[in-house]
Amino acid sequence: MATLDARTLPLDPTTTQTLAGSGFEYREVDVRSAEFSPFTRAIARGFLGEDLTDEQVESSRERVGGRRLTGVYDPHAADPATPVATVDSWVTALSLPGRRTVPMWAISGVTVSPTRRRRGIARAMVEGELRAAAGGGVAVAGLTVSEATIYSRFGFAPAAFSTDWTIDTRRARWTGPMPGGRLDAVDRERLRAELEALHDRTRASHPGDIEGWTGLWRRIAGLAPGYDERKVRGVLHTDDAGVVRGALAYSITQNDDDNAAATLTVLHLVSDGGDAYRALWRFALEHDLVATVTAPLRSVDEPLRWMIADQRAARVTTREHHWLRVLDVPAAIAARTYSAPAALAVGVSDHLGFAHGVWRLELHDEGNGTAQPIDAVADLTMSVNELAAILLGGVRASTLHTAGRIEGSRDAVATLDRAFASPDTPYLRIWY
Ligand SMILES: CC(C)(COP(=O)(O)OP(=O)(O)OC[C@H]1O[C@@H](n2cnc3c(N)ncnc32)[C@H](O)[C@@H]1OP(=O)(O)O)[C@@H](O)C(=O)NCCC(=O)NCCS
Repeated sequence: MATLDARTLPLDPTTTQTLAGSGFEYREVDVRSAEFSPFTRAIARGFLGEDLTDEQVESSRERVGGRRLTGVYDPHAADPATPVATVDSWVTALSLPGRRTVPMWAISGVTVSPTRRRRGIARAMVEGELRAAAGGGVAVAGLTVSEATIYSRFGFAPAAFSTDWTIDTRRARWTGPMPGGRLDAVDRERLRAELEALHDRTRASHPGDIEGWTGLWRRIAGLAPGYDERKVRGVLHTDDAGVVRGALAYSITQNDDDNAAATLTVLHLVSDGGDAYRALWRFALEHDLVATVTAPLRSVDEPLRWMIADQRAARVTTREHHWLRVLDVPAAIAARTYSAPAALAVGVSDHLGFAHGVWRLELHDEGNGTAQPIDAVADLTMSVNELAAILLGGVRASTLHTAGRIEGSRDAVATLDRAFASPDTPYLRIWY
């Protein structure tokens, strides 16, 4: 898929005008310029981080190179070179049911200085991102969030969820099959390369996943400054044919009161096939001197549950993770495949206008769908948020119907449920 460079699209004139009306300047930041250091430091401050070292600034420069960086500046601020608000964005490939992808406008780094908060700056920036994305013909926008209360108002909804695990290893007891292949400890550079390659090879089978980037894998593999990098260790699984099928990045925290009760944290575990999955989890759960395994950001449907003797040895919490926003209904509907046929008129309300209207959906089993604007009474009505929630097949229309968020007959809802069901569980394996 040819990827659009988000930097080639102009800044949204409405946002420029709105912010200018409050005395702010809205402008793009060149990653190679001197403006980048205060820009990335403002993001660190916005997310409550420590001030960055020069080494961290350079690492961040490498990580976000190629993205569209936009800052809001206050010429009257004590330090006018530091933006009072930031956002960065780029176009990536979002995996969809049917092992298809659609271009997605990824939004990250949304911060507003605590000294300029609640004056509408974030609203102006986010709406500007959506208009820029729609203007560039990008069908969907996405983000991961610090708080679950911010983005619904812009038409986003959670479409993929994640789970965090804490496992008492002594109680859990491994009951999975003995996996084939071989495990090897590797250095962090090799770990990074394999995490990157495996993510890319497997992301099509996870609706909701997106492309990774080298700086992300450097951070996860412990190669980026400022992330406890020396604690990160890596193990690879290689199958009998000599192909690397899985990678585990982990760290261990010792327990000062009990040498045999350390905590192993699964920083990232990626597998291409069942053997690698089983081998890496067994490695973690049976690690000597470890009493607890924690694993953030796992799927809502982990086979791990079925490889331990006592499922209550695992505490699992679920959280919304990947928030999507539909900008172009026909393009989003045409991009994925469907599990059952459906022909329905769906009314979508969207106060920002992008997806608003009544749409005739013609969905074909094991094939694509079409959406065409029609002038008719809708069988079902929902807001653009619900459309985003069901897009990956991880949230059922019937659930939202019961919650009072989709209206229409039970039959129509059941038809939508069957069509939108996904054979692969939606799962975004990273933060962005
Ligand atoms: C979240 C943040 C970007 C909001 O910036 P802001 O300029 O104060 O937001 P705005 O004034 O544009 O607010 C827009 C709307 O969002 C609401 N809002 C803003 N921050 C919110 C929050 N943290 N929780 C819930 N609602 C929030 C506002 O009440 C306002 O609502 P309304 O216009 O519908 O009545 C800013 O507080 C921040 O930088 N926080 C720390 C970093 C962060 O969490 N970023 C988000 C990354 S996902």
